[in-house]
Amino acid sequence: MDHPIQTLAVIGAGAMGSGIAALYAAKGIDVVLIDPVPGALSRAAEVIDRQLGVYAPDGVAEARRRIRMDEGLEAACAGDLVIEAIPEKLELKRNVFARLDTLCPAESIFATNTSGLSINAIADSVTRRDRFVGTHFFTPADVIPLVEVVRNDDTSTDTVERVMASLRYVGKRPVLVNRDIPGFIANRIQHALAREAISLLEQSVASAEDIDEVVKWSLGIRLAITGPLEQRDMNGIDVHHAIATYLYPDLENRTTPSPLLAQKVADGHLGAKTGQGFYSWPAETREQTLRDKSATLTELVALLQKRRAD
Ligand SMILES: NC(=O)c1ccc[n+]([C@@H]2O[C@H](COP(=O)([O-])OP(=O)(O)OC[C@H]3O[C@@H](n4cnc5c(N)ncnc54)[C@H](O)[C@@H]3O)[C@@H](O)[C@H]2O)c1
Repeated sequence: MDHPIQTLAVIGAGAMGSGIAALYAAKGIDVVLIDPVPGALSRAAEVIDRQLGVYAPDGVAEARRRIRMDEGLEAACAGDLVIEAIPEKLELKRNVFARLDTLCPAESIFATNTSGLSINAIADSVTRRDRFVGTHFFTPADVIPLVEVVRNDDTSTDTVERVMASLRYVGKRPVLVNRDIPGFIANRIQHALAREAISLLEQSVASAEDIDEVVKWSLGIRLAITGPLEQRDMNGIDVHHAIATYLYPDLENRTTPSPLLAQKVADGHLGAKTGQGFYSWPAETREQTLRDKSATLTELVALLQKRRAD
């Protein structure tokens, strides 16, 4: 299937919405980017220029011309695919989709970029459940290749195929998640890893820097080449079984967020966006760090894609 989408509408011009808009515009698709919150669209314009400058330096002006910005939800009716990227609140998402359902042509496909809320619960707010799907991008949305496509119980095969074709056209590697399970695949694995890392920090087993150093330069670097199941085959499943037998009883298995996490939220130490999290993020270095991260990820993705193609 060629590219089945002529115009993309993106609802929410924050970190994810801006990245998705930049990605599609850089690939020649017209985009309407919608956000009613004062100041959001001008902030998005800065983010989009920064991102396009990293991976499409010769096409910034052309790509920017393809992105129309609007404060009103009515503008979404131009999109044959409408991707929602507003805050992770179920009722907010349901309200926005209920309105979109009355505004947009019946044939438009709706997608939510929720990180892990139930796709069925969000899809209940529209009459077009067969044309409703989850598209879970990863940050930076325009750089990380994978997108989890999650169907609700009524999503049609045609909808899945059109959304997957559209994602492939803009260079993504979509994977279909067969069941609407909380956190889908990636966030379940990511949170299992983060729960253990935070627990190790709480127990003073090592500093935050050293815990990150261990993951970045061992598991992290290897995971880009061999996934966790493939790696078990390399290590030997008998070896994994033996380690799992003595290790699992000792692993963190709490079912609520750790007190350390709760304290950081209460103190307003929310990470890079507030200047303090597990690390300090001075405003003067934060932008540069984000830019460097995007540039390095772009190089790494290009290298890995070349390796797969060879
Ligand atoms: N940040 C991530 O790493 C990440 C990764 C994957 C998925 N997600 C998911 O993507 C979604 C967006 O996350 P984000 O990080 O971009 O959030 P964000 O806070 O950066 O952006 C949200 C945007 O939505 C806008 N908004 C608020 N109410 C709105 C409304 N009624 N209509 C239109 N726009 C509205 C806000 O002005 C803001 O610009 C969430 O569901 C989140 O869970 C985030």
